[in-house]
Amino acid sequence: MNLARRTMNHPALAAVYERAWRPALFYLASGRSTASDRRDAVRALRLSGDKKVLDIACGPGNFTRHLSESLSEGGFAVGVDYSEPMLARAVADNAGPRVGYLRGDARALPFADGAFDAVCCFGALYLIPDPLAATREMVRVLAPGGRIAITTSHRADNPFGHASRIVGGLSGLRVFDHETFPNLFRELGLVEIDQNVHRLLQYVSATRPA
Ligand SMILES: C[S@@+](CC[C@H](N)C(=O)[O-])C[C@H]1O[C@@H](n2cnc3c(N)ncnc32)[C@H](O)[C@@H]1O
Repeated sequence: MNLARRTMNHPALAAVYERAWRPALFYLASGRSTASDRRDAVRALRLSGDKKVLDIACGPGNFTRHLSESLSEGGFAVGVDYSEPMLARAVADNAGPRVGYLRGDARALPFADGAFDAVCCFGALYLIPDPLAATREMVRVLAPGGRIAITTSHRADNPFGHASRIVGGLSGLRVFDHETFPNLFRELGLVEIDQNVHRLLQYVSATRPA
C-alpha cells in the first residue's frame, strides 16, 4: 500500500479530514471551498425528489449526507468506502434519515446494473489502483437517464503541473490528463459531458442516455 493509501486508512486522518484536511488541501489545489463543491455536486448530479444516489469513496460522509439532504421521502444516498476509520467517522458525524454507509471496493461494487439515479466520486480516483475500472463500475450501476460526476486530479501544462506530477508519483497519487475522463465517458456511451478545470483539479460530469 503506498503512502497516500496508507494515510487515507489512518484513524488520525479520518478524525480531521472533514473539518481541516479537505477544506485546506482542496482549497490549495482548486481555489474552491467545500461549500462550493457541495453546491455544484448537487447541481451536476441534478438531485431532487426520491432519487437514489451512490457516493463512491465517500470518506467520512462529508458529501454523502449533504447530497441526501437534497432528496425527499423515498430518496436516499449510499456512501461506499474501503477504509474502516473513515466509515466509522461517517456513521458518527454524517448520519441522517436518508443516508447509509457500506464498506466496499470501488472496483467491484455490490450493486445491480442501473441501480442508482446519480453516482459520484470526489477526491478519490487518484488513489484507487485501477481508476478506469472503478469509473466503468460507476457507469455500470448508473440507471439510464442518470447523472455521473467526478472530481479528480488534472495535469496542468506548466511547471507547477509538472511538479505536481512528480510529487504525486512519489506519494502514490495519480495525475490525469485533460482527455482521460471525457474520452472514457464518450467510449461508455455517455452524453452531455461537461468538464471544468480549477487549478490542479478537474470536475467532469455526464449523463447516461435514457
Ligand atoms: C480523499 S478521501 C475523499 C472523501 C470525499 N469523497 C471527499 O471528496 O472529500 C478518499 C477516499 O477514497 C477511499 N478509497 C480509496 N480507494 C478506494 C477503493 N478502491 N474503494 C473504496 N474507497 C476507496 C479512501 O478510503 C478515502 O476515504
